[in-house]
Amino acid sequence: MPTRTIEQIQVDGQRVLVRVDFNVPMHDGAITDDRRIRSAVPTVNSILDRGGSVVLMSHMGRPKGVGYEAQYSLEHVATRLSELLNRPVEFPSKDCVDSAAADAVSALQPGGVLLLENLRFHKAEKSGDAQFAGLLAAYGDAYVNDAFGTCHRAHASMVAVPQAMGGKPKVAGLLVEREIAFLSEAVESPAQPMVVILGGAKVSTKIGAIEHLLPKCSAMLIGGAMAYTFMRAQGLSTGTSMVEEEHVPTAERALAAAKDAGVDLLLPIDHMIADAFEMGTPTRAVDTIPDDAVAVDIGPKSAELYAARVEGAKSVLWNGPMGVFEWTGADGGTRAVAQALAKATQAGATTIVGGGDSAAALDAMGLATDMSHVSTGGGASVEMLEGKRFEAIDVLDRASISERQPG
Ligand code: 3PG
Repeated sequence: MPTRTIEQIQVDGQRVLVRVDFNVPMHDGAITDDRRIRSAVPTVNSILDRGGSVVLMSHMGRPKGVGYEAQYSLEHVATRLSELLNRPVEFPSKDCVDSAAADAVSALQPGGVLLLENLRFHKAEKSGDAQFAGLLAAYGDAYVNDAFGTCHRAHASMVAVPQAMGGKPKVAGLLVEREIAFLSEAVESPAQPMVVILGGAKVSTKIGAIEHLLPKCSAMLIGGAMAYTFMRAQGLSTGTSMVEEEHVPTAERALAAAKDAGVDLLLPIDHMIADAFEMGTPTRAVDTIPDDAVAVDIGPKSAELYAARVEGAKSVLWNGPMGVFEWTGADGGTRAVAQALAKATQAGATTIVGGGDSAAALDAMGLATDMSHVSTGGGASVEMLEGKRFEAIDVLDRASISERQPG
């Protein structure tokens, strides 16, 4: 049964407690990618436009959990959010549950927005502590989960807080609703044919997704460093490229599963190699990786082959870059795949990009808006592609039959 969403509850005069994932990359105190902040704006505006006020809570990074640490503060996020909303965002305290925070929450007026400091400054967030959760739950008349990137964590703000809300509404935000629609519903019953493209470093972190997705797709295209573990499993030369030796049997298992499912599992047929794994080292294309070279990207023939398989697909799911895309000369495979997806979107296919590095690559190439959906989740999107259930979603209210009627 679908989860109830923020648009299905009354928020006029209500103070709405919204869990977001503002765990954004920072460099020298500056936010280097604000996509997660931008993605929270529709939910915040939906509440403000209907007369509510918003108390936002998030984690940032992995602090020790014993109090304030400046490098993990959400202060810069409050500034950026205020620019995006074009209204002030209160940031009252260095502690999300001290009296300054609680007083500021109580004084919040309709139309007001407040961001609490990093939840993980308290160990109680990760341990799921009920007392801590009770303090946070008391801030809201309703609870919203719009933190897709954290949905695979059963932390206090994700599970114990909604549990502590009693009979008050506990609903999904617009971002979480959209992520589920694409990464779960569209993937569980995809428009056919579906092509899945998987890259990234390790087969060990993707095997769950490979096994879950194989029965749903017509072709699975493998790139990134994990291709070399597959090549080792097939007895092909990999030079000094990264191979997960202990997971060669995992790759063998995936190859056998693809055969059983009648799915084409494609490995690169050529490679971009370098003499050393050092960013900026010149690269060249080869069909066979020499013993003393390292492969850093799929080669141009593979890129063409993969792009051709994407053409004509009705759904395409992509997770993980094809090579070291930050390295000029090792970015061609990822670029070719991104461009093929952009063309497929234009041709009417549903194109879904699981977040993390592939989302970063799309941003760097200016192609993110050419996809049907780019996930804000890293680990969460991989776990959703594995078909896992999330306690943080299961704890939310289900939509009633009348709420599910269109219009
Ligand atoms: C993420 O970036 O994947 C989420 O914010 C979760 O962060 P975590 O892996 O530190 O729990």
